[in-house]
Amino acid sequence: MAKSIDIKKTISSFAKTLKISGDKSLSIRWALTASQANGKSRAYNLLMSDDILSTLSCLRKLGVKIKIKRKYCEINGLGLNGFKYKKNLILNAGNSGTLARLILGLLITSPFKIKLVGDKSLSKRDFSRVIIPLKKFGAKFFPKNKDTLPVLIKGSNSLKPISYYEKKGSAQCKSSIMYAALNAPGKTKIKAKKSRDHTEILFKNLNLPIKIKKGKNHDLIELEGKKNIKSFNYNIPADISSSAFFIVLTLLAKKSNLIIKNVNINPSRTGVITILNKMGGKIQLKNRRTYKGEKIADIYVKSIKSFKPINCPIKLNSSAIDEFLIIFLVAAKSRGISYFKGLSELNQKESPRLKLGSKILNMIGIKTETTNDSLKIYGKPNLKLNKNYQIKNYLKDHRIFMMTTVAALTLGGKWKIHDYDSIKSSFPSFLKTIKKLDSKF
Ligand code: S3P
Repeated sequence: MAKSIDIKKTISSFAKTLKISGDKSLSIRWALTASQANGKSRAYNLLMSDDILSTLSCLRKLGVKIKIKRKYCEINGLGLNGFKYKKNLILNAGNSGTLARLILGLLITSPFKIKLVGDKSLSKRDFSRVIIPLKKFGAKFFPKNKDTLPVLIKGSNSLKPISYYEKKGSAQCKSSIMYAALNAPGKTKIKAKKSRDHTEILFKNLNLPIKIKKGKNHDLIELEGKKNIKSFNYNIPADISSSAFFIVLTLLAKKSNLIIKNVNINPSRTGVITILNKMGGKIQLKNRRTYKGEKIADIYVKSIKSFKPINCPIKLNSSAIDEFLIIFLVAAKSRGISYFKGLSELNQKESPRLKLGSKILNMIGIKTETTNDSLKIYGKPNLKLNKNYQIKNYLKDHRIFMMTTVAALTLGGKWKIHDYDSIKSSFPSFLKTIKKLDSKF
């Protein structure tokens, strides 16, 4: 039986300071990179969600020793190309596209075929975006011409560096190539459409020979392979994507204030703040600082009575890609028509989020117009719900669960939201964190 939650009341006013769990992108990158370093690395505040547990379990299967303590996680890195490959190995990436795509980059040295599998949602997602460049390095994939999981990868001992143009703006694709480049002799060159740049920042911080030229729409990255990585400790800041649900919960709640401490505000991730502020939110970033090249701040947000619609600039898409579902909810409450475009990638996520986001808005009485890559939302500033709503069959997408929970807590109505286990992918303490704001929840 799928576990569900019932929400029958909106949230009361709150004024609180919260800590949100560690950033998912940084947690996965720390673990994969630490596995390639020489010796012991520790991460503090590592996100202990299913996506990271899948990462650690894949690394263990590749011979990496990992200790999980109360305060930190320690990885004993095996050095570049140090994985202990075995025959008939099966790695399970669970729900995580980031893990699956990034780890393939590290497997291009495997002398044996390794099978990579994932859950139902991940098995529907496109892998040609990483298979194509990894083949250029010299890796082989089986069955031939298959571009979804499960796939088998076999590496090569005569890898070549590549030049590649990444056109989708996929950080997963760019990072997979960068992990592969670590093991290829010589210089790999990537022209990449703008996307989150955590891997570049991390590699630079580790003193790897990487050059980055930032352009308006694209970045040029040059990375020289076969250089040893020293072990390193990392204090993972809070995840802005998880924080976004609490930002919108506060915006839409009544007379509430929230401070979220120590959040990663890498500019390639803060599109959600820019967009919500353009819509009338007064979100502030205070106590700004830099940690190992990443920008960090505390987020201050308070409830707002009325929102402006937005014609969302395409250039903000990549920096808000995981937050559109929750942004759509604000658009539903705004005083006019909002328009989001150039978003076909949103249908390539854990679920087809552009389609399902629109469907959920229709269910709560909001008119929408959708195409394959755009969504028009006819906002209703006085939106108040009083019917019964049921959320199920959404490929257990964690962000649909969290978006609809925020809708239920702010818009009214009686809700039954299925598959609460889905939050284990990115934010296992989501419901516990809501309880900190509303002890009756
Ligand atoms: C991620 C990149 C994004 C994002 C995902 C995490 C990453 O995916 O949606 O949740 O950590 O690199 P794409 O690179 O496919 O856009």
